[in-house]
Formats: sequence, structure tokens, C-alpha cells
Amino acid sequence: MVNAKMEEALNKQLNAELYSGYLYLSMAAYFEEIDLGGFANWMRVQAQEELSHGMRFYDYIVQRGARVTLSEIEKPQSSWESPVDVFEHVLSHEKTVSGLIDDLVDLSIEERDHSTNNFLQWFVAEQVEEEESASSALNKVKLANESSNGLFLVDSDFGTRVYTPDTSE
Ligand code: FEO
Repeated sequence: MVNAKMEEALNKQLNAELYSGYLYLSMAAYFEEIDLGGFANWMRVQAQEELSHGMRFYDYIVQRGARVTLSEIEKPQSSWESPVDVFEHVLSHEKTVSGLIDDLVDLSIEERDHSTNNFLQWFVAEQVEEEESASSALNKVKLANESSNGLFLVDSDFGTRVYTPDTSE
């Protein structure tokens, strides 16, 4: 079992992961509108990843005999100034999520909940990758701004991103 405090915190993070998916889908829609299909693809893959993160929390809550409680998902931002502006937002959002995961880890230590602490370690490692991936994408988009066909090349690159379900449990 997880205690009531942890149950509430895990449900809150489930909501945060679904919100992340919603935010990235909103970014995908922004790119569809300005005809950057590859960028939109990158965001759609990112949104799928976030849904899978949410499902990890969902499954863990069920596995621990607790109750999944779905709450309202906040409306995401829907317009940005430029592709660079979007990717700056992605990086800052991922840093915020890393902070949320760190807070959960702190709570698991305070509550002496070792199984939840162990479950969260996957997310601690994942956030390192998430920040690296966002930072690398931001750098590419910034560089693309410096040449005439830069955005076109990055759009082709981002168009090749494929969602790979993570099977490690
Ligand atoms: Fe679920 Fe992008 O962190």
C-alpha cells in the first residue's frame, strides 16, 4: 500500500504527465498550422511519450492497491512566437517536470516509502534524457535560424522521429 499523502501526490503527477502530453500536442498543432510537418511529428512523438509516462503512474497506483483519481487537465498554451520560442518552452517545461519528480522522491524518503522511491528512480533517469533531448532539439532549431534552408533541414530531421514504446519494467 501507499499512504494517502503519497496516493494524492502520485495522482497529481499522473495529471502532470497528461498535461505534458496535452502541451506537446498543442505545440504539434501550432507546427501543423505553419506547415512544419516534421516539427509537428517531433511533438506528436513527445506527446505519446508523455501519455506513456502517465500510464506508468496509473499502473503503479493500481498495483499498490490505491485509487486512480483523474482530475481536470489544464488548458495548454496554444500559440508561440517562433519555433525557437516553442523549444525554449519545451526545455523549461522539462526542467519543471524534473523538479516535480525530485519533490516526489523527497516525499518518498520522508514517508519511508521505499517501493515508491524505487519506482521513481526510472523517472529520475528519464528526466536526464528528457532535458538532454529538449536541449539538443533547441540547439538545432537555433542553428537552423542562421541559414536559409536550415528550418527545412531540421524539419526533415524531426520528421524521422519515431515513437518507441519503452518496455523496461
Ligand atoms: Fe514526462 Fe517529458 O517528462
